Order: sequence, then C-alpha cells, then structure tokens
Amino acid sequence: MDPLEASPEKTQKKKRVAVIPGDGIGQEVIPQAVKVIQASGAGVELTAFDWGADRYLRDQTTVPPGGFAMLGRDFDAILVGAFGDPRVKTNIHAKEILLGMRFTMDLYANVRPVRLLDAALCPLKGIEPKDIDFVVIRENTEGVYTDAGGVFKQGTPDEIATQEDINSRKGVERIIRYAFEYCARNKKLDSSPRSKVLMCDKSNAMTHAGGLWQRTFKEVSAEYSQIATQHMYVDALAMQMVRDPRQFDVIVTNNMFGDILTDLAAGLQGGLGMAASGNIHPGKTSMFEPVHGSAPPIAGKNMANPFGAILTAAMMLGHLGMTSEAEKIETAVLEAVRQKKTTQDIGGSLGTREAADSVVESVARQSGVSTR
Ligand code: NAD
Ligand code: IPM
Ligand code: MN
Repeated sequence: MDPLEASPEKTQKKKRVAVIPGDGIGQEVIPQAVKVIQASGAGVELTAFDWGADRYLRDQTTVPPGGFAMLGRDFDAILVGAFGDPRVKTNIHAKEILLGMRFTMDLYANVRPVRLLDAALCPLKGIEPKDIDFVVIRENTEGVYTDAGGVFKQGTPDEIATQEDINSRKGVERIIRYAFEYCARNKKLDSSPRSKVLMCDKSNAMTHAGGLWQRTFKEVSAEYSQIATQHMYVDALAMQMVRDPRQFDVIVTNNMFGDILTDLAAGLQGGLGMAASGNIHPGKTSMFEPVHGSAPPIAGKNMANPFGAILTAAMMLGHLGMTSEAEKIETAVLEAVRQKKTTQDIGGSLGTREAADSVVESVARQSGVSTR
C-alpha cells in the first residue's frame, strides 16, 4: 500500500472524528475549530470525549479501559486540544492521554508545518510570507520521551537520575523515510516542488544515537536521488532558523529536538497560537492537535487564538481527503489575518469566539452560504 495514503476501507464513508478538547484553552479553541469544520460542509461525524484534567480529578480516569483500541477501531481521525492543568501536579493525565496516544497508536510522524501567513506576524525584519514555508517532521514515539531510566537514592545527596535516549533502527529509518516521501509528494504553498531534506541531530556530542541517525540518513537518502540533503547540528539550526528561515524546506529530527524547534518555529509564524500539527501513522487513525498547550493563565477568558486549532482542523480534513474543505478554511484564516480580524496575541482586538466567527463567515461565503 502507498505509505502516505489512508487505508482503502477508510476512504469511502462519512469520516468519523473523535474530538478531545482536553484542558485549559483546549476547551475554548476546539469548539471553535468544530464550528469551522461544520461551516465548511465537510462530511464528518463528530463525537466528543471528556478525557482531561476535570475527568481525572473527578474519577481518576485518564484513558478509559480500551480507549486507544476504541479510537483506532471506531474513528478515522482524532482532533485534540491540549492537556496540562495546574491542579494535576504530576501531569500524569497528559502523559497517559497525549503521549499514550502517540506511543500506543504508534503515531510516529509528528508533522508540524511552519508557514508565515502575513509579514506583520513575523518578529524578523524583512521576512515575507514567501520566505517561510517549511515543515518539521518530528520523530514521535522514541527518544527521551519513552521515559526510560530511573532514579536511585532519591531524595538523598547521592541521588542519581537517568533519562535514556532510545533510538531504534526501525524508528529512525521510518521517520527519515517519511520525511523523504513527504518531500517528494508535497508542494510549497506557491506550488513549487519541495526539494530538500535536512536532518538535524547532535551527533558531535551524542555519538551513539547520532551515528545511527547519520548512517540511516545516508542510506535512505540514496533511494531519493532527486532530493537534496543537508545536515545541521541542532544548536546551529536553532540559530539559522532565526537568522535566515528562507533556507529550510523539510527538516527531520528526533522527538525532543523537534519539540523545541517547533516552538521556536511557531515564534516565526506569529506565536504558538498559529501553529498546527498532525501525529500520523500512514494508513492508521491519526491525531491532530495545535502545537500550543493549555495556557492556564489565559484559559477561560476568551483570549486564546483559535487559528492554530482551526488550521489543525484543516490539516486533518486534508489528511482525510477533503482537500477543498481544507483549502476553504486555510483561505479563510489567511483572510482573517490580513484583515486583522484576530485575537490580541497577533495584533487584533477580537476574542476567541469572535475571531473564529470571522473564519466561519468567510468559509460560508466561499461555499456560497450566508451566515446572516
Ligand atoms: P503553552 O503553549 O500553553 O503556552 C506558552 C505561551 O504561549 C503562554 O504565554 C500562552 O499564553 C501562549 N499561548 C499558547 N497558546 C496560545 C493561544 N492559542 N493563543 C494565545 N496565546 C497562546 O505552554 P506552557 O505554558 O509551557 O504549558 C502550559 C501547559 O500546557 C503545561 O501543562 C504543559 O505541559 C501543557 N502543554 C500541553 C501541550 C499539548 O497538550 N499538546 C503542548 C504544550 C504544553
Ligand atoms: C507538544 C508538547 C508535548 C511534547 C508535551 C505536553 C508533553 O509540548 O506537543 O509539543 O513535549 O511533545
Ligand atoms: Mn511542545
């Protein structure tokens, strides 16, 4: 089967989407994304789940028994908000729900597109939308996130903590191959082809894992002679991302470097409120979530930027084959940004709901439906 396509039995009927808003601003931005999906006329059936801090504090449930199997069996995609609540100090629910979904459902490719919709949103001088259109493909099932390791003599002056960085040949190879396939099959926003995969590691210091990434990158790249390759250490890449983001196309990296670099990259796009992501295993039920977290200080104030979640919904619809609906939504967000019909974090004066309303109106207008 084509490795980047949905499985055939999932391409026919109305798509079933599980919606898990989670905590904090997740509960505000996800209902707005749902409103936009509905306005787009996408053929989806949405089912909400209450997994998150409130449920955990109520009955100690993080993921109900069989929860992940149910999601994989009964749904074509999952739309998630964010997890993290100051009342749950251990963050156990976020770990079990979010990382649990990524690991248990083997969603190995965390795809995080980085696009600048308007020059006004970028903190760098002289950078135009055409200058920032790259994607970070983050390994999503291994690395330090496996939480392998342990603590010895905890609480004593001799305490030792280890946090293992797990890198399997299978895991490294499949994420690198995913990056090359992504490069081969996806165009930039201006319709020009993608042409370069950059592998980012820290192999000058972390030689064991770095060696595996280096060898695997070389071997897999030999299968894609038409695609240019490049390598950067993660520290140098962080500097280059700020100095000249024009040079990037497809970046592939490990779990932790991908996490850090995509917050930095979000900064180039206008902040965390603008960044979308997909947690993907080709052919299996995949999960889509904005890059941002639950942002407790602004939660419940109708302040959160809903565009990251809305663009995430568009990404999900595109993944499910509903490209025209996805494009309508992306066009509508672009229009809202250009007209400054936005929340305060990106220079507007609207609330979460009102900013999303303007996207809904634009989507409806593009569909020839009046919302008034
Ligand atoms: P955060 O993304 O919640 O917030 C970082 C900063 O960005 C804050 O200043 C916040 O106000 C701002 N911000 C984030 N999203 C925004 C939006 N949509 N609109 C406007 N401003 C926005 O990250 P944090 O503060 O490091 O973490 C808060 C909690 O969220 C923690 O519990 C953390 O573990 C969790 N978290 C969860 C996810 C996830 O579920 N995918 C991702 C990141 C962080
Ligand atoms: C993200 C988040 C998560 C991560 C946290 C909440 C565990 O920061 O999705 O980027 O580190 O992957
Ligand atoms: Mn993160």
